[in-house]
Amino acid sequence: MKTKFFALIGILFSICSMVKAEGDIPQRPPIIGVAHIGFYTKDLDHTRSYLRDFMGYDETVTLEKDGKVSLSVFKVNERQFIEIFPERTANSSRIYHFAVETTDAEAMRVYLKSKGYKVPDHTPVGRTGNYNYFVTDPNGTICEIVQYGKEGKMADRCGLDLSKNRISTHMSHVGFMVPDVDKALSFYCDVLGFKEVWRGGGNPKKVSWVHLQVPEGYETVELMLYDEKPSWERMGSMNHICLEVQDIYKTKAILDSRQQPEGVKVPTPPKAGINKKLQINYYMIDGTRIELMEEQPYDGILAPSSKGKLMKYIAKEN
Ligand SMILES: [Fe+2]
Repeated sequence: MKTKFFALIGILFSICSMVKAEGDIPQRPPIIGVAHIGFYTKDLDHTRSYLRDFMGYDETVTLEKDGKVSLSVFKVNERQFIEIFPERTANSSRIYHFAVETTDAEAMRVYLKSKGYKVPDHTPVGRTGNYNYFVTDPNGTICEIVQYGKEGKMADRCGLDLSKNRISTHMSHVGFMVPDVDKALSFYCDVLGFKEVWRGGGNPKKVSWVHLQVPEGYETVELMLYDEKPSWERMGSMNHICLEVQDIYKTKAILDSRQQPEGVKVPTPPKAGINKKLQINYYMIDGTRIELMEEQPYDGILAPSSKGKLMKYIAKEN
């Protein structure tokens, strides 16, 4: 009897110490989706018109600084947005950052700090009323952590700005250039808990795209790999968003009936990609690509993952 009693005390003690250990080690809070992407543009009015009048999105928040628009936020749905910023440097990369949604930005801050990543000393409330901050991934891409606030400019627009004209109601992924895929995988998979779901590429021997799904949601980020310094045009294609549509031909017919703002690249014809999903690429004034794509492969069977070699870019010394 005495032995059983001490054994029970022992078990209770170990459970308590396990809980304490868990309590001491910061845990990663859920990441439930891809929240937005922020693009720079050389022509703010043109890009605003493109997203509003052509793609059909409502500009839900507009911020000004020194009498000029410093940020235009377009609403895809209640938890996904496209942010447009006036360029700071001409002919620089058009992607400013992308954002993932967490349920607890402060817990994520503590967690990322425990992993050695540079984060602010506290979780700030941003200009739109959300809890947000930046963390820079090992390749230099800015990943914003966002937890939607219950008050502020964005919360005030809840239930509004969901135009019936918008060409898609879901941003299924964002894609961004990744020079070193190993570094990217160590951050997004090992630290943030993303799951790799697919690899692909135009050349079966080389992997150009790696799809990583957010750990507690459905959306993905598409790591855009390369092994040679990309041209400006190529960069605009790599740093992109994908908007999901039900029927690519109906989507094309709708967009054909609208006036595309002048000066942009001609969209690609509808066709199935390597992933067997029907798609069209549209381009904004800076050459930034908007991929409109059906959710399912045309035959309902997912394309197999590539077994090729992951591309990697090693900058050459001048
Ligand atoms: Fe894509």
